[in-house]
Amino acid sequence: MKSSRGEDPLLDLVVATLFLFFVVITLVSNVFDYVNHECLDYLRELIRKTKTLTEKPFGIGVVLAFPHELNIKTILEEKVAVLQLYWGQCSKELVDDAHRAGVKVVPQVGNVEEARKAVAVGVDAIIVQGHEAGGHVIGKDALFSLLPRVVDVVGERDIPVIAAGGIVDARGYVAALSLGAQAVCLGTRFR
Ligand SMILES: Cc1cc2nc3c(=O)[nH]c(=O)nc-3n(C[C@H](O)[C@H](O)[C@H](O)COP(=O)(O)O)c2cc1C
Repeated sequence: MKSSRGEDPLLDLVVATLFLFFVVITLVSNVFDYVNHECLDYLRELIRKTKTLTEKPFGIGVVLAFPHELNIKTILEEKVAVLQLYWGQCSKELVDDAHRAGVKVVPQVGNVEEARKAVAVGVDAIIVQGHEAGGHVIGKDALFSLLPRVVDVVGERDIPVIAAGGIVDARGYVAALSLGAQAVCLGTRFR
């Protein structure tokens, strides 16, 4: 049987499918461009607004598993004090770019191997996340099991270790300090 174009209907179907695929890809890509553009403007606006609200340094968390290049570019351009990274490996190139912009890099790690890699690329501090943590969790071990091992990885280097996960009161804080942390990061405590 001939198709409406007088050719092989299977070929018509393939052409139509490819065309549809192309249209969908173009639409999706345009939507992503639009959303990205909007997010960058919004991010810049939020950073500038925050700067009007405090003279203290503040940081911005970026989840590396999601699209992030342009967000990070904006954060460095705006010279936010701290770039906090999560769910992904930060590269030496990124750390160097951040340092050139005067931005400190603080990844959150969930195991010893991630901590080793973070130390190797020259981060400024490390947040050690135990499995007890709220929100996006990467830690597989309990905080007080993982924390001393990361403290040992850091050794004598001038890289503060910050403990995160299930710390809700002064006892947890003191316990984290006793295991070598220099600060704590609290999330669900404030919810
Ligand atoms: C609602 C919520 C969202 C979170 N989102 C992120 C995130 O996007 N990136 C990140 O690095 N950590 C995120 N976290 C984890 C915190 O940085 C931190 O590890 C955790 O809150 C500490 O444990 P706690 O909740 O028991 O105090 C989130 C935590 C909460 C409670």
